Amino acid sequence: MLSDRNMATSSVISGFYKLQPKERLAIIKDFAGLTEDEVRLLENTGSLPIDVADHMVENVIGVFPEPMGIGVNFQINGKDYLIPMATEEPSVIAAASYAAKMVRDGGGFHTSSTAPVMIGQIQVVKIKDGETAKKQVLDAKVGILKKANDQDPVLNSFGGGAKDLDARVIETTMGQMLIVHLFVDCRDAMGANAVNTMAEAVSPMIEQLTGGHVYLRIISNLAVKRLAKAWCTVPKEAVGGETVVDGISYASAFAAADPYRAATHNKGAMNGIIAVVLATGNDHRAIEAGGHAYAAFNGPYTSFSKWVKNKNGDLEGSIELPMAVGLIGGAVKTHPIARIAMKILNVKSANEFGEVLAAVGLAQNLAALRALSSEGIQRGHMSLHARNIAVTAGAKDAMIDLVAERMVKERKVRVDRAKEILDELCTKQ
Ligand code: MEV
Repeated sequence: MLSDRNMATSSVISGFYKLQPKERLAIIKDFAGLTEDEVRLLENTGSLPIDVADHMVENVIGVFPEPMGIGVNFQINGKDYLIPMATEEPSVIAAASYAAKMVRDGGGFHTSSTAPVMIGQIQVVKIKDGETAKKQVLDAKVGILKKANDQDPVLNSFGGGAKDLDARVIETTMGQMLIVHLFVDCRDAMGANAVNTMAEAVSPMIEQLTGGHVYLRIISNLAVKRLAKAWCTVPKEAVGGETVVDGISYASAFAAADPYRAATHNKGAMNGIIAVVLATGNDHRAIEAGGHAYAAFNGPYTSFSKWVKNKNGDLEGSIELPMAVGLIGGAVKTHPIARIAMKILNVKSANEFGEVLAAVGLAQNLAALRALSSEGIQRGHMSLHARNIAVTAGAKDAMIDLVAERMVKERKVRVDRAKEILDELCTKQ
């Protein structure tokens, strides 16, 4: 019996998209060493039991299913990954897989990351003098860090915990404030609970030291100390020739210079990142907030990925953004499908997870820019969108593709046209 991941090891699965869901699942079962129970959970589209859901959030009345697919072809630091992606948007998974294939031709993705350090903010108001209060806090650093670390011996035992602190005086509409930053190494947790607990625990000490009043004690989603980076080289032949390389470089320069474009450029990267974050039960709002805030960290809002043509005429790309994700905590372990998604992803640390996410973001961004700088986004998008429209019009099984193909051919992807085609095909049967 296969209980471990020891059969298929390549993420290149030719014709994966042409298979039926059951056939795809058999391949993933083999790759990830899924058990029969896990396969049954994935096959059962109502796999989040109501009592589990009821413990996850409040006022539960049901669950909201979303499709989960697999991004194929990913090679990151020489290791093959199959990427679980949950999204409602057609073409995202196909596009990521296509881009991963192009990148693979150039040696795959390379990644790095900083230590998993999150920032806890403590807001001190009603201080007499900002600089004096700052000195009082900095002088008491050792004691404050000890108090913080007393809150989480388990995190300490894994080498994490509050490692340092800093303080800034800011001017606001309500006067000077001292903002204390607690730097907490969260190891394999996203860390919000640990950081918030520590920030709350040290606040009375900070009030005592400064004579001020503490209001907010909360993690910052601008996780500039927890960054993941991915980069790759794509051979010009793989991307469609030097004209396309130029087009992607121009697109990158456009996004770097123009916030209107940067927002869409970054949204494209987030299409991939968030799909994985969602599938794995992590906090996708934290990733969105952190990514976009980071894109405006050094001035006007800009792109968090860059593409340039190198001296050989090939395309070089890189992306860097905060990655506050965890392997434990939140819904990661409680949501049955998130647990399986994590198993398929097969990452061993939150850092590795963040790096994979950065690579997926870069792939997704590449796919969008390649399409935009060549045939345009609508052709590929429309054929997948057409299937949705066909379903909306009532098509089932084989009819879905037949109706979709006709609409794409006619360039009329609309529900009214789908209904007409469907009626026509049904009368012929
Ligand atoms: C659509 O979901 C994403 C794109 O708009 C991204 C981009 O323009 O780069 C295609």
